[in-house]
Amino acid sequence: MVAPVLVLDFGSQVTQLIARRVREAGVYCEIVPFNKADAALAEGPRAIILSGGPCSVHEEGSPRAPQAVFEAGVPVLGICYGEMTMCEQLGGHVEGGHAREFGRADIIIRKGSPLLDGLGNAESREPVWMSHGDKITAIPPGFHVVAISENSPNAVIANEERRFYGVQFHPEVVHTPRGAQILKNFVIKIAGIEPTWNMHAFKEKAIQKIRDQVGNGRVICGLSGGVDSSVAAVLLHEAIGDQLTCIFVDTGLMRAGESEEVVSLFRGHYNIPLLHAEASDLFLTELAGVSDPEKKRKIIGKAFIDVFDYESAKAGGADFLAQGTLYPDVIESVSATGGPSATIKSHHNVGGLPAHMKMKLVEPLRELFKDEVRALGRELGLPEPFVARHPFPGPGLAIRIPGEITAEKLAILRHADTIYLDEIRNAGLYNEIWQAFAVLLPVKTVGVMGDDRTYDYVCALRAVTSTDGMTADYYPFEHSFLARVSTRLVNEVKGINRVVYDITSKPPGTIEWE
Ligand code: XMP
Repeated sequence: MVAPVLVLDFGSQVTQLIARRVREAGVYCEIVPFNKADAALAEGPRAIILSGGPCSVHEEGSPRAPQAVFEAGVPVLGICYGEMTMCEQLGGHVEGGHAREFGRADIIIRKGSPLLDGLGNAESREPVWMSHGDKITAIPPGFHVVAISENSPNAVIANEERRFYGVQFHPEVVHTPRGAQILKNFVIKIAGIEPTWNMHAFKEKAIQKIRDQVGNGRVICGLSGGVDSSVAAVLLHEAIGDQLTCIFVDTGLMRAGESEEVVSLFRGHYNIPLLHAEASDLFLTELAGVSDPEKKRKIIGKAFIDVFDYESAKAGGADFLAQGTLYPDVIESVSATGGPSATIKSHHNVGGLPAHMKMKLVEPLRELFKDEVRALGRELGLPEPFVARHPFPGPGLAIRIPGEITAEKLAILRHADTIYLDEIRNAGLYNEIWQAFAVLLPVKTVGVMGDDRTYDYVCALRAVTSTDGMTADYYPFEHSFLARVSTRLVNEVKGINRVVYDITSKPPGTIEWE
């Protein structure tokens, strides 16, 4: 799909949010590293956005936008570092070494501009999120000042004739309340792009693309029970019907009722051919006596592939392997130094398939962000509770039981997790939380119940808010909520006599405990 809007990434932590905001405005948008943009620029985007980045334009070798950006005859918006480099490249002047302006600030609008349509009139104030160290001391010829802030006499600059704009703040973050409007103005009002990107249109195109790629071939898809692989499977089924076979490897490490739910949804509701490989004994045997988190992951990964391999051979093999790879997994991100040493995140769901499985990949979700996958799931009619599920890791409950995994511990954790999540749902908090789960600690403590001494496990509760799982904050539950969950867990779950709440953010913690 040719993207009408291209974001050139200079390494900002929030570049992905630019693409999301543009897509939310109904316009398809892709991200490319600033130093690998030639092919994408040659496709003729209708608007270009230069992202922020960690460098100063004064650092030696700091990145620059390809000259083609300014010669394409299309609107260009420079954000933060993007504004600085645009300014420098077009004949303005930027000075480094200033005190960093970071956090909330107000801009004061000095002159009307289509970029700020729908915001205040001249002299009105607008809250924004700043994060920069360089300062523009001379704007390039042909530009004028649209808005200032206390520390930036050039907070928004424009050359309306060439449709070049620069903003010193980050319109893509939620802390700039009307930033989404600014990005929408840029792509729709200024670049004149029709807002036709929506999930219905995406679905139709994706179905056609799958049919073109697969032809009469056979496709297998590994279902994990999670949202991504489920949405991929339902989409594939709409496209190619019974040419698709799904394989659900039941590791025995799923949450309560999860396996049954997947089987009934796919076989019953959608009537999608599904091989249910019940392999919990194999996984438990392989994991017996193993405590090291990395070893556990490797054992689970290998056992998964062995079962998947066996089942797909039994099903007669296939020409294609479908994966629920998402856009964040395929974006080549610019490293924190902004240098050319780009890092690619590799997908870890069905990685490392045996060499003899020579299947081509079908990845129908590789252009979508997580929230867009959920929207596509809704478009495909997947039930809301299923689509809105919290993420669940491939290795399942095994990485929520530090130490050795046993059937007994799995049963205790499943029970505890069910109670905790029921309480979260009853309190109406489920959709506010990115991920919540119970962890069973390999620690026994002394307690008292009635007149009896108890000696049982500690259960840790985790709940975080996040936008992408890369960073996270612990969820600030009311004490009364935590007390209620604790009472229920200790009273109802045999094997647990103490409950603690994890208040670590990520970083320095991770979301999972292993
Ligand atoms: P961490 O624990 O690294 O997790 O902060 C970030 C997000 O990734 C999920 N996660 C995994 N997902 N396979 C997966 O499919 C894995 O091996 C895995 N490990 C962590 C985790 O649940 C959180 O959403």
